[in-house]
Amino acid sequence: MTHYQTVTDNETVLRDGTIKLHGPAAFESMRKAGRLAAEILDAMVDLVKPGVTTGEIDDVVRQMTLDGGAVPATLGYRGYAHSCCTSLNNVICHGIPGDKVLRDGDIINIDVTPLLDGWHGDSSRMYLVGDVPLKARRLVDVTYECLMIGIDKAKPGARLGDIGAAIQAHAEKHRFGVVREFCGHGLGRLFHDAPEVIHAARAGTGPELKPGMFFTIEPMINLGKPGVRMMDDGWTAVTRDRSLSAQFEHSIGITETGCEIFTASPKGLDKPPY
Ligand code: MF3
Ligand code: CO
Ligand code: CO
Repeated sequence: MTHYQTVTDNETVLRDGTIKLHGPAAFESMRKAGRLAAEILDAMVDLVKPGVTTGEIDDVVRQMTLDGGAVPATLGYRGYAHSCCTSLNNVICHGIPGDKVLRDGDIINIDVTPLLDGWHGDSSRMYLVGDVPLKARRLVDVTYECLMIGIDKAKPGARLGDIGAAIQAHAEKHRFGVVREFCGHGLGRLFHDAPEVIHAARAGTGPELKPGMFFTIEPMINLGKPGVRMMDDGWTAVTRDRSLSAQFEHSIGITETGCEIFTASPKGLDKPPY
C-alpha cells in the first residue's frame, strides 16, 4: 500500500515511508535549491579539464554552495566527508573526491546537493575531459536521453514504474546495462525519502504519481553489464565488468499537467558537448 501525506511548509517531516505531497511554497523553495545546484554544475564546465583533480572540483563545489547560502548535504551525511561525488569512467556513483587527476579521454559525473533554507536540490551531469572516444560519448548521450525519456513519463496519473520502463527500454535498445542497486528518491526537506525511483521497471506498476510529489530521476547506465561491485571504502560503486558508466540526475516536482524540472541549467548546459 502506498501512503501519501499532504504536508504544509513549516511542519516537521519524518522519514516514515509516506510520499509527501507539497504545495506552492515548497515548489518555490525547491526552485531555489535546484537552481543553485544547476549553477554549480554550470560552473564545472570550465573547471573540468585534463590535469584538474577531483579534490579541486570538490573545493569549488563546496565554496559555491556556501557562497549561495547553502550547505552541501553530503558533508557529514552517514560519515561522508565531501561536498560532492566525482564518479570517473568505470565508477557508477559515489566516487570520493581526492588526489585523482583528470586525464584526456575521461568521462566524469559530478553530483551536487545544496541544502538551501531547509530544502535539497540534487542533480548530476556528465563531463567530457578533452577528446573522448565515440563509444563513451554515445554512452553519455544515451544516458541523458534515458533521463529525459523518464522525465517525459512524469505526470499525474502515471505510475512510477512507467518511468523505469521507459528508461530501461531505451538503454537496452542500445545494449547498455541499467544499474539496479541504486535508485532515484523522494526529496524535499529530506535528502533521501520515499518513494524509491527504480530505473528498470514494468510499466503500470508502482505508486501513482500525484501533483506535489518531489523526487529525483538519476539513471546509471553501463556500457557493459549492469553488475555493481563496491570498493573497500564503502562508498565507491564500480562496474563489475570494468566497463564505463554514466549518470545524469534531475530533481523534479509533479504538477497538475506534467512536471517541473527544478535543476534545469539556466544556461542550457544540461549535457555535453558544453
Ligand atoms: N547525491 C547522491 C544522490 O543522488 C547521494 C550522495 S550521498 C553521498 O542521491 F554521501 F555519497 F554523497
Ligand atoms: Co539523488
Ligand atoms: Co545526487
